[in-house]
This record gives sequence, structure tokens and C-alpha cells, in this order.
Amino acid sequence: KTFTVAVVGATGAVGQTMLSILEERDFPVGTLIPLASERSAGDQVEFKGGKLTVRDLATFDSSGVDFALFSAGGGISKEYAPKFAAAGAVVIDNSSAFRMDADVPLVVSEVNPEALDSIPRGIVANPNCSTMQMLVALAPIHRAAGIRRINVATYQSVSGAGRSALEELGRQTANILGFKEPEPQRFPVQIAFNLIPHIDEFLDNGYTKEEMKLVWETRKILGDDSIQVNPTAVRVPVFYGHSEAVHVETERKLSAAEARVLLEKTPGVTVVDERAPGGYPTPVTHASGTDAVYVGRIREDISCPNGLNLWVVSDNIRKGAALNAVQIAELLAAKR
Ligand code: A2P
Repeated sequence: KTFTVAVVGATGAVGQTMLSILEERDFPVGTLIPLASERSAGDQVEFKGGKLTVRDLATFDSSGVDFALFSAGGGISKEYAPKFAAAGAVVIDNSSAFRMDADVPLVVSEVNPEALDSIPRGIVANPNCSTMQMLVALAPIHRAAGIRRINVATYQSVSGAGRSALEELGRQTANILGFKEPEPQRFPVQIAFNLIPHIDEFLDNGYTKEEMKLVWETRKILGDDSIQVNPTAVRVPVFYGHSEAVHVETERKLSAAEARVLLEKTPGVTVVDERAPGGYPTPVTHASGTDAVYVGRIREDISCPNGLNLWVVSDNIRKGAALNAVQIAELLAAKR
């Protein structure tokens, strides 16, 4: 059995990767339909050694689509995802538009696939990239020892902000090395050779929305509203791969050695923890272009009795977005 798959935002950073992951994993695609705005309609994208012509989402008739993978921003999802679902597709949406709706499952494929048992609106939400990789690593620790509190600082690459952000880091880096002005456009201040403690909009409590996604989505995915999460989200001048310094406090004591054993047998996780130069994961040496969530620097928190520290790195465009969306499609396809 094969499926008709539409990729909405097929020319974007995530959409392009959705196409290559569908191909790599040999998802049973009968017809693939790349969609974007009228700006790119008529352009070509590559799929399985051939070329497909990008079509304009606004004028596309969505009947006959089995799976629609959306990654064109929240506004586009709000407007078009319900239309695709009404026409019979299951929408897997990478935006934040529906994530916190009670009747929309929010799924990390390794963590809560059972949430796919009921899809009342025909829409499944793909979690935020930072939440995604953090929970692949933390779900087994939560099951084993009960996580009470998570302190997390993120180091997020520019690709999370899309194609234009990748271009901006490249352009600014070249400008600065050529003694020219960096000229910020996509980010509020210079990102090359800098850090920006601001992702998504500021909220009334002083946290950014990106930070609150780590709070809200963690509770929904783990099904536990008592978990306390204290996040700081930072954009760093890295092209691909998010990193996170994660400090958890658990109900029961879990030693670093026990955590390592647990993580080593966790699907989706690769432990890289040598305690020697280079013996830890980084975005460039491990994560970029690969599928795993890498965990290193596993150690007990010397400042609190049941505390554990982890360094978690993953390709935000792959596990953090496109890969998980395709994994959700695989789980759904297996049920048909
Ligand atoms: P387009 O190439 O037509 O602009 P990124 O996150 O890398 O910036 O990519 C965003 C994706 O969303 C692109 O594929 C982009 O297509 C698509 N997109 C943006 N606006 C619209 C729109 N109004 N309708 C359909 N697709 C859109």
C-alpha cells in the first residue's frame, strides 16, 4: 500500500529535509506533492532522483491526500490544516498552532506514540525542537525516578529560524571577516560571533514563548502537570543542531552510572560520554545531519541531592522537526 503525501513548505529548511527523510526511510509514497507559496510555485525540488514541481498551496485542491506534513509557519497551518483534515488527510503539523489544543495529540515518536490512538480533528502536532530532543532523553529518567523539576538552558542553532536565518549567519560572518557591517535583518541583533537570549516573543511573565513551550509541551507529552520547568532559550551562531544543558531533580535518587545505563538502552538516544577531550557530543561533530539525540556530560549535581546533569545535542531540523514528523506518519501508516 502506498500513500499520497503533501509537504506544505517544501522549499523551506524543514520541508526540504522532510522530502529527503521520506526518501531515506523509504516511506511508502505513491505520489508526493510539494507545496509552498506562489513565490516558489513552478520551482523544482528533488525527490527519489527525479524532479517535482512545487505547487501553490493557495490554489491546491487537497482532496485525495493521505498525509499532509506542514512546516510553513503557524499562520499557514491555522488556515490550511483544518481544510486538509476536512478533505480526509491526516495533518502532521510542525508549527505551534495546535500543540496545546486538548483534542490534538502532541507526539514524540519514542515517548508517547499511544497518543496517536485518537486524532479527533485529523491533526497531530509535532513538538517544538528543543522540547523534542530534551524529552527523548528525559522520558526514561522520568519513568525510572520521577522528574520533579527541570532547569534547562538551550543553545539553539539558526536553522530553527528557517532558511533566511541560515543565510543571515553566513552573510554576517562573511561581512565581519571582510571588515563590513553585519547588518542584522532576520535576528534583532548581530548573530555571527554573538549569542541572543531571545527566541520567539516576550510574554507577560518575562519568559519568551520559546521558553514557555518547554514548560507547556513537556507537561502535555509526559502527561504530568506537576513537573516544574525553568528554561532559558538562547540562539547561538551554529548552523545545524541544538544543544541543551539540562539539570533535573528527581523524586528518587538516580546515580550518574544508572542514568548512563538507562540512556544507553533508550531508543533514539546515543550516549557519548568519555570524560576526555572530544568525548562529548557537539552540533558539528555529532548531531548535524544525523538522527540520534546525543547525551553526554552525565554527572550528579553537586549542589542538590537528587540532581542530575546532562548535555543533550540533536539536529533540530531532523529529530527536532522533519524526522519526528515522518516517524509519526510511519506509526499511522502501519495502522492502515
Ligand atoms: P516559499 O518558498 O514559497 O516562501 P523556512 O522556515 O525555511 O523559512 O521555510 C518556510 C516554508 O514555508 C517555505 O517553503 C515557504 O515557501 C513556505 N511558505 C511561506 N509562506 C507561505 C504561504 N503563504 N503559503 C505557502 N507556503 C508558504
